[in-house]
Amino acid sequence: MKAIVYRQYGSPDVLKYEEIEKPTAGDDEILIKVHAASVNPLDYHFMRGTPFAVRLFSGLRKPKITRLGRDVSGIVETVGKKVTQFKPGDAVYGTCRGAFAKYACTSETAVVIKPNNVTFEQAAAVPIAAFTALQALRDKGQIQHGQNVLINGAAGGVGTFAVQMAKSFGAHVTGVCSTRNMEMVRSIGADNVIDYTKVNFTKTGQRYDMIFDCYANQSLLAYRRALKENG
Ligand SMILES: NC(=O)c1ccc[n+]([C@@H]2O[C@H](COP(=O)([O-])OP(=O)(O)OC[C@H]3O[C@@H](n4cnc5c(N)ncnc54)[C@H](OP(=O)(O)O)[C@@H]3O)[C@@H](O)[C@H]2O)c1
Repeated sequence: MKAIVYRQYGSPDVLKYEEIEKPTAGDDEILIKVHAASVNPLDYHFMRGTPFAVRLFSGLRKPKITRLGRDVSGIVETVGKKVTQFKPGDAVYGTCRGAFAKYACTSETAVVIKPNNVTFEQAAAVPIAAFTALQALRDKGQIQHGQNVLINGAAGGVGTFAVQMAKSFGAHVTGVCSTRNMEMVRSIGADNVIDYTKVNFTKTGQRYDMIFDCYANQSLLAYRRALKENG
């Protein structure tokens, strides 16, 4: 099968489109025929081998796992003998190792059934970015109905999920993005939008219950200034 592989860390030039052996699902795995995959900063970090800490997982001198791509959607081709939740022909989406390929294996716990009204491309864009937003807002931030929440980097992969999730938790949402993305951020539910090319959100005098920063370009002191006392 065809796959994107890499055998050394570096710029996108290290990526090669090659013929490699088709993987086989382990006992608790499924083999997915990939219909769509999405690219995350994670893939970039694994490709570059930076920050250096990623090499603790991916290999110190060169990548141990030569395939890239985490977010995936596709059709289940085969299932391992211990798999109980899926059968061949199911449309699924979730995470795997090696989504940039014709086929990818993953644990049955790493995917869910794809709703019929969501395309494969839409589904593949969800997993890691949406998990990140959900973990930050709900698990770490313990977001509450009625809170004033600011999302810096609101137009990005994580930020666009964060705006929509924060709204669905009943927060009053301020999104920070560039001029060209203001309408888009408003359209996905932000109550206020701040253009970072014109306004520094930490200097407006407005204070928030929570700041979810997907860009992290301010000092801790500046965040403190923009947070309420118990924020
Ligand atoms: N995507 C994931 O699955 C994932 C998972 C875990 C962690 N992360 C981390 O989360 C962070 C965001 O990832 P992402 O995927 O959302 O990245 P992204 O899609 O590249 O989005 C980054 C956003 O930052 C905005 N931005 C640029 N300069 C800014 C500034 N000065 N002030 C405020 N916003 C600015 C950009 O907005 P404009 O386009 O409007 O300029 C852009 O939309 C990264 O550090 C990434 O490593 C991502």
